[in-house]
Amino acid sequence: MRRKELRIMVCEYDAVVELPDADQKLVLAAREASKNAYAPYSKFHVGAALLLENGEVITGSNQENADFTDGLCAERVALFYANSTYPDVAVKAIAVTAKNAHGLLEFPAQPCGSCRQVLVETEVRYNKHIRVILDGRKHIQVLEGADNLLPFAFKPKDLE
Ligand code: THU
Repeated sequence: MRRKELRIMVCEYDAVVELPDADQKLVLAAREASKNAYAPYSKFHVGAALLLENGEVITGSNQENADFTDGLCAERVALFYANSTYPDVAVKAIAVTAKNAHGLLEFPAQPCGSCRQVLVETEVRYNKHIRVILDGRKHIQVLEGADNLLPFAFKPKDLE
């Protein structure tokens, strides 16, 4: 028997103005994108903003459907758009934000499991860690790489 301890690293900030400039810009782009959410069922408005290696910022918002299973999260809307529009350009960072009926969430908006899986795939695809910035009104988390969100991810090499 081997006992292993895994470490995940997260930096926490109390306000968006404390973040490095590039992160602040990305959070503001995500907040703006959340306004385009189509969320008539959950009333939970999520925005995601990606910074690509070519400097481009790509945004996405959650898109729901009367057939609830056909909706898609903001993160995957943005990631799939970026990866299909710029298939050769790595994703450097993602900011995610969410609003409910009371406004911006106090604690960071946490990506769902499927979005974590797609983030990991994107890291493997471009061989580059993605900086993850999770926005909240009073707490903001920054992680250096999606592995910190999904330590035991299913990866392409698992298919071999
Ligand atoms: N949602 C996201 O857009 N991202 C996440 O990581 C979590 C959940 C969306 C999906 C659905 O439209 C709404 O939030 C409520 O689950």
